[in-house]
Amino acid sequence: MLDTKVTELLNTQINKELYSAYLYLAFSNYFTDEGLDGFANWYQVQAQEERDHAMLFLKYLQNNSEKVTLEAVERPVQTFESHLIVLEAGLAHERYVTELIHTIYDAAYAKKDFRTMQFLDWFVKEQGEEEKNAEDLVKKMNLYGSDPKSLYMLDTELAARVYAAPSLVL
Ligand code: FEO
Repeated sequence: MLDTKVTELLNTQINKELYSAYLYLAFSNYFTDEGLDGFANWYQVQAQEERDHAMLFLKYLQNNSEKVTLEAVERPVQTFESHLIVLEAGLAHERYVTELIHTIYDAAYAKKDFRTMQFLDWFVKEQGEEEKNAEDLVKKMNLYGSDPKSLYMLDTELAARVYAAPSLVL
């Protein structure tokens, strides 16, 4: 059995990851409407990764004989003023998720819950990568977003992203 507080935070994280998926689907829909299919693809793949994250938390709880409680997923914002604002919101969201992961880690550390800490190590690394990806998108949009030809090329680059299952298997 896991500590009550650790279990509660892990359970909440399922919801946060599903919300992340929902948020990125909203981003994807926005870019589809804007005619930027590459950006739409990029965020659709990202949404799939977030669903995987949710399932990893769910499975970890079940593997430790903890009951999972599913809560309502919040409605994401769906109107945006510019392409850049979406990308900046993505970066801010990933930084927020990093804080959430660190909070769970803190709780596990306080309880000497080495198993959960080891499970979370993958997410700590993953968040580093996700923040970097989000930062890169913001940088690229700042550099190229105002030139239609460059934006087209950036969109083409993002169209190439393909989904890959997570390297963490439970
Ligand atoms: Fe599951 Fe992008 O954090």
